[in-house]
Amino acid sequence: MELIKLKIEFQQALEKIEDEKALDDLRVKYLGRKGVVTDLLNELKNMPPEQKREAGNKINSFKREVDLMLEEKRQLLITSSKSLKNEWFDISIPGLKHPRGHFHPRTIIMRQAESIFQSMGFSIVDGPELETDWYNFEALNIPKEHPARDMQDTFYVENPEDGSDLVMRTQTSPVQVRFMEKNAPPLRIIAPGRVFRREATDASHDYQFYQIEGLMVDKHISVADFKGVIAEFFKRFYGKKVDVRLRPSYFPFTEPSFEIDISCVFCNKKGCRICSNGGWLEVAGAGMVNQIVFESAGYARNEWQGFAFGFGFERLVMMKYKVDDIRLLNSGDLRFLKQF
Ligand code: PHE
Repeated sequence: MELIKLKIEFQQALEKIEDEKALDDLRVKYLGRKGVVTDLLNELKNMPPEQKREAGNKINSFKREVDLMLEEKRQLLITSSKSLKNEWFDISIPGLKHPRGHFHPRTIIMRQAESIFQSMGFSIVDGPELETDWYNFEALNIPKEHPARDMQDTFYVENPEDGSDLVMRTQTSPVQVRFMEKNAPPLRIIAPGRVFRREATDASHDYQFYQIEGLMVDKHISVADFKGVIAEFFKRFYGKKVDVRLRPSYFPFTEPSFEIDISCVFCNKKGCRICSNGGWLEVAGAGMVNQIVFESAGYARNEWQGFAFGFGFERLVMMKYKVDDIRLLNSGDLRFLKQF
């Protein structure tokens, strides 16, 4: 077999090649239908069967090598081609910047809020978004068929295992009970998370949004403690002094309950479009933890006192960034998101 000789011949021919046309001719000469490799394969027929196999293998690997070397040469011709040599490269042109992602505005603000609460001694805890009816309602003193269920339109989900009621949690309050079941007072937590309501959307309502639940329990916690914590939070969150106002309200899991307003951070109570000229902005529901909730969590009745609150989180984001439609936050619209 003169394969070695053939290979050397081929390499010598390849070295002399300077353009793609010549390269194509060489390819045809070796790999074409009437080329060198075909001839070699044809010769196989005349060989004794014992030798056929080995010779065949050798020819095939020669073929692969030729193919590879032709391709390498082709690349080489391209990179060193005349047209490229004549082109010039302006090294002073500024580089292209790759677009870089960043956090969602909600994440940015959530981290700020979390760090303020953490600095006041609150831990951050988590709970499931798909909840049992017990944690989302019953344990919070909202029995089945009770009118208080109408306060929150709910996505009910049937548990495929036993047909029992699951719900997409309508509030972060179930995390209160989950946490107290496993932890004894004194305690201070916030539970940020997503909640779901079966309602139509408009500029200030979406069917999914975020809340920050807060809970502080000890022997002698009072409404004054609550007001102090909240006032401090808002002062640091908005970077200026904000007035806090409590209005009487009703929640089954707090007693007494209140609605929390803060002085409008845009007009400072003078009245503007954002606060509908009222001078105040409603930011949260809150109250002193109902003893029934302590009982649901396994605490003895009348042993402990605490406050709980639930912020509508998007409200805080919208006020901070002056966003006027809550739906933008879930839209994934880059024209909106790129502004943060
Ligand atoms: N869970 C209530 C809501 O979603 C808010 C709340 C939380 C009220 C904690 C009182 C105490 O409307």
